[in-house]
Amino acid sequence: MSIKTSTPESTRTGPRASPPRVDAERLWSRLMAMAEIGATPKGGCNRQALTDLDREGRQLFRRWAESAGCTLREDAIGNLFARRSGRTAAPAVLIGSHLDTQPTGGKFDGVYGVLGGLEVLETLNDRGIETQRPVELAVWCNEEGCRFPAAMMGSAVWAGRMPLESAYALTDRGGASVRGELERLGIDVRRPLERQPLAAALELHIEQGPVLEQQSRRIGIVTGVQHMSRHEVIVIGQEAHAGPTPMAMRRDPIRVLADALPALYALTAAHGPQAKFTVGIIETQPGSPNTVPGRLRFTVDLRHPERERYRALRAEAERLVREAIARHGLGGDIQCVWEAPGVEFDPTCIAAVRRAAAALELPALEMVSGAGHDSVNVAAVAPTAMIFIPCAQGLSHNEAESASAADVADGANVLLHAVLELAQAQTGG
Ligand code: HGY
Ligand code: MN
Ligand code: MN
Repeated sequence: MSIKTSTPESTRTGPRASPPRVDAERLWSRLMAMAEIGATPKGGCNRQALTDLDREGRQLFRRWAESAGCTLREDAIGNLFARRSGRTAAPAVLIGSHLDTQPTGGKFDGVYGVLGGLEVLETLNDRGIETQRPVELAVWCNEEGCRFPAAMMGSAVWAGRMPLESAYALTDRGGASVRGELERLGIDVRRPLERQPLAAALELHIEQGPVLEQQSRRIGIVTGVQHMSRHEVIVIGQEAHAGPTPMAMRRDPIRVLADALPALYALTAAHGPQAKFTVGIIETQPGSPNTVPGRLRFTVDLRHPERERYRALRAEAERLVREAIARHGLGGDIQCVWEAPGVEFDPTCIAAVRRAAAALELPALEMVSGAGHDSVNVAAVAPTAMIFIPCAQGLSHNEAESASAADVADGANVLLHAVLELAQAQTGG
């Protein structure tokens, strides 16, 4: 699909106004204000999806967006949209990201794309810039997929890639369901899941890896997202006393973990430096220090940018785990509980980001995202691209996550200029 665009310069009327720039102070102070909600002792944020703290963050966003003159609406899965109307009712340009965080999350993951997007809308207002196309800012529900085990959940339902009822049925460790939590937070689950027509979509985000910093680039022109999936391994053994039970008589599921982990790390290394393997959760039942566990559960997160290598990595990991379970004569299996196939973003959107970075004279690097983002789902229904800025030591999903004020402002200015192009801005007087 080709998007008719116009470069901001060609639409400028009257004396040459200084090119629009975001208000860096306002953006930074809002990021810090949002970071107060769910602030952790080590300087991070724990504002997990559909918690009271998530509600508090959404309410703060609502206040800011309403005072910026946006029209707000929520859909049946808790996605929140703030719309700035355009001169026409043409398909909109969508920006935005997520406000929910990891348990030991940082101040920027997701939040930066939401508040950077809001800053773009504020700057358009400040400069009296009208756009042909409406600009819509999305706050996607449960991007992280930590409390409720499906990452990028809200955008997947919105894009028709996950059934609403499947999302509603997801539960957290305490048994609370997505549907129950939406209702508890006063989000009307009877709302429609309407999808506004879109001409283009852009998401601003921190890189969450070390590449931009290592290569001294200020902007990531994100051309796609790698393949990824999440697997759950359950191994069934037999509870037994840690003292009198001879080692040879035990049905100990930890033996499978002891076998499988070295093999899985070796498998990942065999697929090269771009292959990623993560065990994020290891749980035993009954969880007693002097009882041989009867049940072991651990998660496996697999990723690779190349489809064939990703598929091989996944198939071989599943085989390895199943062989280890069989070797010890125990029960259980490995099951894929979530998958997001890799995506290639849209050339027109990528070009708009590239032009914006060049116009701002920011050294940029074209790259594929290692992290998953809601743009993976948005790209299924609209031409999409992403913009990255560096984060210190590439750290993210860590309370020490940080980005410089200069990079935060630069990334938002790149988003501003790409939106001006894709939304066909008419500069004010
Ligand atoms: O898992 C991811 O890559 C994202 O942070 N949800
Ligand atoms: Mn994120
Ligand atoms: Mn994240």
